[in-house]
Amino acid sequence: MQLDELVTSNNIENEAWQALENSILYYQGRPIGTVAAYDASVEALNYDQCFVRDFVSSALIFLIKGRKDIVRNFLEETLKLQPKEKALDAYKPGRGLIPASFKVVSSNGQEYLEADFGEHAIARVTPVDSCLWWIILLRAYVIATEDFSLAYQPEFQNGIRLIMDICLANRFDMYPTLLVPDGACMIDRRMGIYGHPLEIQVLFYAALRAAREMLICQGNQDIVAAIDNRLPLLCAHIRQHYWIDINRLNAIYRFKSEEYGKGAVNLFNIYVDSLPYYELDKWLPKKGGYFAGNVGPSQLDSRFFALGNLMAIISDLATEEQSQAIMTLIEERWEDLVGDMPMKICFPALENEEYRIVTGCDPKNIPWSYHNAGNWPVLMWMLAAAGVKTKKIGLVHKAIELAQERLSEDEWPEYYDGKKGRLIGKQARKYQTWTIAGFLLAKELTKNPSYLPLVSFDELPPEVVSRACEFEIGSVDSYMSR
Ligand code: GLC
Repeated sequence: MQLDELVTSNNIENEAWQALENSILYYQGRPIGTVAAYDASVEALNYDQCFVRDFVSSALIFLIKGRKDIVRNFLEETLKLQPKEKALDAYKPGRGLIPASFKVVSSNGQEYLEADFGEHAIARVTPVDSCLWWIILLRAYVIATEDFSLAYQPEFQNGIRLIMDICLANRFDMYPTLLVPDGACMIDRRMGIYGHPLEIQVLFYAALRAAREMLICQGNQDIVAAIDNRLPLLCAHIRQHYWIDINRLNAIYRFKSEEYGKGAVNLFNIYVDSLPYYELDKWLPKKGGYFAGNVGPSQLDSRFFALGNLMAIISDLATEEQSQAIMTLIEERWEDLVGDMPMKICFPALENEEYRIVTGCDPKNIPWSYHNAGNWPVLMWMLAAAGVKTKKIGLVHKAIELAQERLSEDEWPEYYDGKKGRLIGKQARKYQTWTIAGFLLAKELTKNPSYLPLVSFDELPPEVVSRACEFEIGSVDSYMSR
């Protein structure tokens, strides 16, 4: 890098640090989180609140920089917001949930926290991802501080247990994945991701692994046994049934349907005509592949979702081969998936009739905008972490360089629109905290790959994965050999 480039890059980083500092939220004199956006030019709505999923990006960079107090305060205070009693009242949040967001409210000179479990949010969406991110962040804290004592405190053990309870509870279906409503994660609007969306499944997997590391067995044997049972099944299910590459597409293309009983190969009765297979045939590079957005009865959503795919690499849910294939896809389809701003939240956009039916004519989610294939700079840290893990550092540098000047010039927008991500998002806020933190985190992770273990996991032992095959019928190998 030239000297003047280095100076510019350092200036941008300093500016980002200052902006992150401005976003810190204080409660009773202590820092406890960051607001979603610090933009005085537009009505705040709920962007002046601390969102759990958004704070994870800030928290990781704070941990890296030794600012552990803010993360600890956040974990302690959000844990207090978790409902601990069984609620049979339909309008009360379920036991174990962690809110989507919270704000500091003052009354009679006293400050208290007000949580939103979706009861105030636009469209009243359920934040399923919050409790999963919360566990993942607690583990990151433990690793960064090398101090298990916080997680071992009885309140924290109980908090983890309650989250596991709600995830592993009795339910209607028998998939290893979690069945959730639409908009239950980063994409918190109707986007046709109800059912078993990849993002939730990957976060679920990472949370199960994190919980397994932190739960003390004494008194938690039942939960630990349930985690040990679920992990390999979930892992094998995603690796097998969500995977799309050219070989798999070939297999699906020749799928038989209406198979009944044990010998079924097309387990979910996917009808080939529901897939845009001619487009996929053109689009899929020879060696690339990715996990589908959703799998359910006669449903295989072939859209590419960035968060789920990148976190699958980071959390080791993807095999080494699959991880390399996802990165190859990103490299080979850079113009589509990254364009001028890392990176697309999903690809391709829902258009025309499909857009109208699936989003409910949402004007914020018109094709190539916002959640409907907009570009979200926060995803850059996950791209960086996945790049570090798969040793694709060149690709990460390219992404950071693309982003850095524009982000600062455009005042750190929430998202970008357009096929190439060149338009500042139509309703994007400026000084969006996770844009700022995502950028800083991407830089730190590339400068110092030793921070990766804060979010990454090692491989599940092979004997645990192969156990899953006892339960699974119609594995990839079995239909490929037919
Ligand atoms: C939007 C995003 C959501 C985020 C929130 C606050 O609703 O879709 O993922 O948490 O803004 O930034």
